[in-house]
Amino acid sequence: MNRPAIDWDALVDAAKEVRGNAYAPYSSFGVGAAVLTGSGRIFTGCNVENASFGLCICAERVAIGSMIANGEREIRAIAVVTGAPTPTPPCGMCRQVLAEFAQDVPVYLASTTPGTMARATSLSKLLPDAFRGDMLPARDGGGS
Ligand code: THU
Repeated sequence: MNRPAIDWDALVDAAKEVRGNAYAPYSSFGVGAAVLTGSGRIFTGCNVENASFGLCICAERVAIGSMIANGEREIRAIAVVTGAPTPTPPCGMCRQVLAEFAQDVPVYLASTTPGTMARATSLSKLLPDAFRGDMLPARDGGGS
């Protein structure tokens, strides 16, 4: 059965809106992310920084965590919005976390800076030759 077309406007709007909640007092670099699941729901996240800088969490992983906490497992698309002069792609750690729950999904990068061109890319372009769980030796049970 064909799935409905991806509503990119809705996904970008959701990422823009959640970016307003970004907690980024150290970098002043607010990020919003919205994932579309296989069942058509949207989950959002913003970055959450910490005085202990290494503990900062990216918007993408917050959105994916919310998706998992709500019982979903499949990412169909993701939009990331910043205020940068050019749209910025997910960091390496977030690419790997995306690959846990997505095959080759479209990734849409946008900025709130006026006049900025959005950029469409994909997970396989951002993370070719991903390490995936099916490369691990088979193990029985557990993990539920
Ligand atoms: N950040 C994200 O939220 N997503 C990315 O993919 C790149 C970086 C956040 C982390 C930190 O709060 C700020 O942007 C500057 O690195």
